[in-house]
Amino acid sequence: MDLFEKISKKPGPLGQYRDQAHGYYMFPKLEGELSNRMIFMGKERLIWSLNNYIGLGNHPEVRKVDADAAREWGLAYPMGARMMSGQTSYHEQLERELADFVGRESSYLLNYGYQGMVSIIDALVDRNDVIVYDSEAHACIIDGMRLHLGKRFVYPHNNIENLTKELERASKITKETGGGILVITEGVYGMSGDLAKLKDIVALKNKFDFKLLVDDAHGFGTMGKTGAGTDEHFGVQDSVDLYFGTFAKAMAGIGAFIAGKKEIIRYLMYNMRSQIFAKSLPMPMVIGALKRLELLKTQPELKEKLWTIVRALQKGLKEKGLNLGNTESPVTPVILSGNVSEATQITHDLRENYNIFCSIVIYPVIPKGIILLRLIPTAVHTLEDVEYTINTFSEVKKKLDTGKYSSGKIEGVVIE
Ligand SMILES: Cc1ncc(COP(=O)(O)O)c(C=O)c1O
Repeated sequence: MDLFEKISKKPGPLGQYRDQAHGYYMFPKLEGELSNRMIFMGKERLIWSLNNYIGLGNHPEVRKVDADAAREWGLAYPMGARMMSGQTSYHEQLERELADFVGRESSYLLNYGYQGMVSIIDALVDRNDVIVYDSEAHACIIDGMRLHLGKRFVYPHNNIENLTKELERASKITKETGGGILVITEGVYGMSGDLAKLKDIVALKNKFDFKLLVDDAHGFGTMGKTGAGTDEHFGVQDSVDLYFGTFAKAMAGIGAFIAGKKEIIRYLMYNMRSQIFAKSLPMPMVIGALKRLELLKTQPELKEKLWTIVRALQKGLKEKGLNLGNTESPVTPVILSGNVSEATQITHDLRENYNIFCSIVIYPVIPKGIILLRLIPTAVHTLEDVEYTINTFSEVKKKLDTGKYSSGKIEGVVIE
């Protein structure tokens, strides 16, 4: 069969919805300045779907440093991969400052978190080693494991009893192969907002011999006393062997880093294929990240503002009877019962009649019959935004409960 003909008949798990969803549910264009209000399809909406947690995306100092760095350095420098010709003192300075901030000996920059994570996993394990991971692990963790030639065991999300069983299985195998065990979890789970049970996981180190890698994409900059992450929040930084953070969320940039013991980071520098064989982060990204980190450290009021909004939003939604699952982070899932048609009607109603833009997650990403509307509060939201959103969600829930979305049509909503 012709390869392209096959592809046109099998557009993929997400691509199958492209004709109905493109430009509205998928690939929507949010225009204007990054803020709580942006333009979607020509109209201003209240935006709850950007991971601009502490509002650095459009912070005047950040914008200035980004622009000045671009003017001074351009986007080309340095050319080549870090190992070959892309090393600079700025990259090294950022690595030292990141390591200090997250309480580790050393850190190394990654061009993108996704590729970085794939190669971290690939570099750490060989066919004799066993990976044990949480069932809700992010795609970059799953893809890293696809390269793994040894055994891998999954435990149901945050289920420590099952994790213990999998560690028992893994230990039996590594006893035979002479390999080691790598446990991988996220810090904050980006869909549900719940936290990995890091205290329970590190306590298992008393019983089993394993190393722990934490992907804290959503926790870096938002969790812990200083914003150093979910392991700071739980007070277990010393027991998390490798800490991964991205600049794509609270730092409102591009790039990521991995932090840990000096000798391990040095090993990774020389063995992560996606970094060895790819161009170094351009200078404005590095200088911009230094500025963002400085603000993260010196302006704790940004994180405090985020949490004021988070607490008000989550408290208000709960008081109106909305189910937010087990979130303990800024990620705010509103969990409703309904089918795919109801989910699309609700999203349309929110966007067109209430001017609220949030992300929607449905089957097959989550079980059938559940609708997850995900709100990401940020430091640039206001308490008025929060109040309006709480009232809106309360109305939407009432409409859903009374079957207003089951007819396939509600006033002002046109479903093609
Ligand atoms: C949990 C998690 N890990 C890794 C990544 C990938 O990071 P990046 O955007 O830097 O590639 C993301 C998304 O950005 C994420 O949510």
